[in-house]
Amino acid sequence: MSQGRLIVACDFGTTGFRALVTETTANGDLEIVGCAHERVEGFQDGDFVDLGAGARCIARCIRDLEADSDIYVSGFTYNIAGSHLHSVRATAQVSIGPGPRPIRQSDVDEVIKMARSMAIPFDQKILTVTPVEYSVDRVRGIVDPLGRVGSLLEIQAHLVTGSRSVLNNIENAVETAKYKPLGEEVDVMAAGMALLEAQEKEQGAMLIDIGGEITNWAVYRKGAILANGSIPWGGNHLTADLAHGLRVEWEEAENIKRQRGVVMRNLVPEVALSSLFEEERPEGTKGLIAAILEPRMEEILTMVKNDFGDLRELASLGAGVVLTGGGSLCRGTKSLCEEIFDLQARKRYLPRKLAGAQQLPEGQWATVIGLCRWSARDVNQSGLEEDLGQGGGLLGKLRGMFRKSVGQEKMAAEG
Ligand SMILES: Nc1ncnc2c1ncn2[C@@H]1O[C@H](COP(=O)(O)OP(=O)(O)OP(=O)(O)O)[C@@H](O)[C@H]1O
Ligand SMILES: [Mg+2]
Repeated sequence: MSQGRLIVACDFGTTGFRALVTETTANGDLEIVGCAHERVEGFQDGDFVDLGAGARCIARCIRDLEADSDIYVSGFTYNIAGSHLHSVRATAQVSIGPGPRPIRQSDVDEVIKMARSMAIPFDQKILTVTPVEYSVDRVRGIVDPLGRVGSLLEIQAHLVTGSRSVLNNIENAVETAKYKPLGEEVDVMAAGMALLEAQEKEQGAMLIDIGGEITNWAVYRKGAILANGSIPWGGNHLTADLAHGLRVEWEEAENIKRQRGVVMRNLVPEVALSSLFEEERPEGTKGLIAAILEPRMEEILTMVKNDFGDLRELASLGAGVVLTGGGSLCRGTKSLCEEIFDLQARKRYLPRKLAGAQQLPEGQWATVIGLCRWSARDVNQSGLEEDLGQGGGLLGKLRGMFRKSVGQEKMAAEG
């Protein structure tokens, strides 16, 4: 019997909900206990547009998770994504004592608090505040100011805000499904937590998650997030283009894309584009598929590049680009990305080391793994485990799950 703590999270993706139960291991990482996937309903652009359908979809997904993991779930953490999110750069400063002295944790806390108090529209809520860099007496580029002697501490922080209305609506959907919302994390930051190594974040890296309807991106540098954003295009738009170009139904286009999708014309034999317009129903050759898909993927990647906008910073990303999300699975995505960004790129879908990862079915699990890691770190940082001991108890409730015992199972069945 394992001694770890159980953590439940759910990724509300634009094409499907993916839920996981994980257990903390002795080496401080996680092991997968169970998983579930449900095709999305009532959810669009990061919001539950049909509360009833969305809540039923959550309930089905978590019930499957309970069956797969043999765990009762009472609540879970989840991701936040969509066009209602905004990222902002905040600056703040505090003066340190009457004369210079070593900077203390209380000074750092104070300057972060001031950055957090930046004026934002009343309908937005601050979701995360991440220090980008500090300055002490106007010396810039300081990663950790603790102990440095100075009289003025300044911070540049990366803030992500989200619509209060959407955040409340998501909580409402989770509660309508009869679960407890245990906290949220920005989608791409969760994926970054799962997929990027500390060294890559230090050297500078861009993560691009090409999902179904959205592509989320984040840039890390000196170990911290520098910027993030999203664009409203993803893998589903490639399918729509293919259905339109080959004059086939959506399902057929999706199958063609998954089995033979190529997004770079120079990887396949060239075709005359006139066949797209002349033939009754053009033959779906690889050349034609690439000719249809390449412009859309090029557009998605170029929009990400422009959305970030800082070409000098981009050129200095030592660890290049990491591509993830189902939309990046088509052949040629990595090469096209390297061409557009002029950086080394690689695809990555799971953390390098994760116990139990082999039991995960095909699909995109990085975001929900990151949510579990974030949740585990959050609990550790709160120091609750010292107070509450191992396993269930209040902490078990906090993280929202109980391992089923034979007795509990019986009670559940009877009750
Ligand atoms: N083998 C494949 N080849 C090409 N595309 C694929 C493949 N498998 C899945 N996809 C595409 O991946 C997309 C879904 O990706 P993913 O599961 O990462 O999205 P999501 O997490 O639900 O959405 P989002 O991240 O936008 O909220 C769909 O457009 C799907 O067609
Ligand atoms: Mg996703």
